[in-house]
Amino acid sequence: MIEKIKQIKAKIDELEPKTAEEVELIRIKYLSKKGELAALFNDFRNVGPDQKKSIGQEINNLKVSIQNKLEEWKNGLSIKKQPIHSSIDLTQQEIEAKFGTRHPVSLIKNEICDIFKKLGFTIYDGPEIEDDWHVFAALNFPDEHPARDMQDTFFIEKHPDVLLRTHTSSVQVRCMEQQKPPIRVICPGRVFRNEAISARAHCLFHQIEGLYIDKDVSFADLQQTLLHFAQEVFGKDTKIRLRPSYFPFTEPSAEMDVSCKLCGGKGCSVCKHTGWLEVLGCGMVHPNVLETNGINSNIYSGFAFGLGVERIAMLKYSVKDLRLYFENDVRFLNQFTNY
Ligand code: PHE
Repeated sequence: MIEKIKQIKAKIDELEPKTAEEVELIRIKYLSKKGELAALFNDFRNVGPDQKKSIGQEINNLKVSIQNKLEEWKNGLSIKKQPIHSSIDLTQQEIEAKFGTRHPVSLIKNEICDIFKKLGFTIYDGPEIEDDWHVFAALNFPDEHPARDMQDTFFIEKHPDVLLRTHTSSVQVRCMEQQKPPIRVICPGRVFRNEAISARAHCLFHQIEGLYIDKDVSFADLQQTLLHFAQEVFGKDTKIRLRPSYFPFTEPSAEMDVSCKLCGGKGCSVCKHTGWLEVLGCGMVHPNVLETNGINSNIYSGFAFGLGVERIAMLKYSVKDLRLYFENDVRFLNQFTNY
């Protein structure tokens, strides 16, 4: 028996397992219920009483030494898995971190918001999922107005009173519900229209709404505010012109054009040879809208405007296809790193 114990010990000393699986196989071979040590303990029953003590001790020593070996191997392998510090190359060049850039629509949106913030306007936010009241009814839209038609507005089929806002003018209404005049807010946000996607139209785009209500606000205030805005965005020599238009929520209403920067007003393909580019809709807040929203139209008056952010960005950066703003092509987006 002593001989057998020595043999096993010698074998164990020769082993050099390389993986955790190999260590486990050794454990099974020697220490499991049907392993070699179990067989030794079995034979131990037949040992005569005079040898029992010494052989018993030998077997026990063998068992402890195998257990220690297994433990040693396991630890050694897990240490090897960790990176060896000497392999770090301290002369290696740092890897340049690529930072993202702001999206051009965000750049223009922030720029426009900053212009109005300097004039004392604050940002006012409202939900994209709206109801008929805030998008249409409270803005003096007659019941049969075509904008409510399924052609333009995305309605939720099961809930005809739940819709995606088609313009940020809905936020005007929310603001008037919450604040008393004087009101001076701009409301940037996404709007949704059921339109075929083309170079000039998209079903999703961004608007910035402006609303100014106080005593004695006149059309001249609107005109000067918009002139200042246009010159800040497009340059000091920019001219504006206001053409009569119609919106249910403003009276009088107008559309604003800016002089074409590319041809200096002489006429080119971008401005369709008119020298002017249309940029926004505006007007004096209709007295019905003031009254509907709890503001006395005999004391207060105001102006409002709504501009398309992509449209301004297209003019400013001379981008001819609106779809580029939604495709997230990095070759397009990377061009705005320096703005
Ligand atoms: N809401 C209008 C639109 O989407 C723009 C507008 C806003 C016009 C405020 C007048 C006043 O076209």
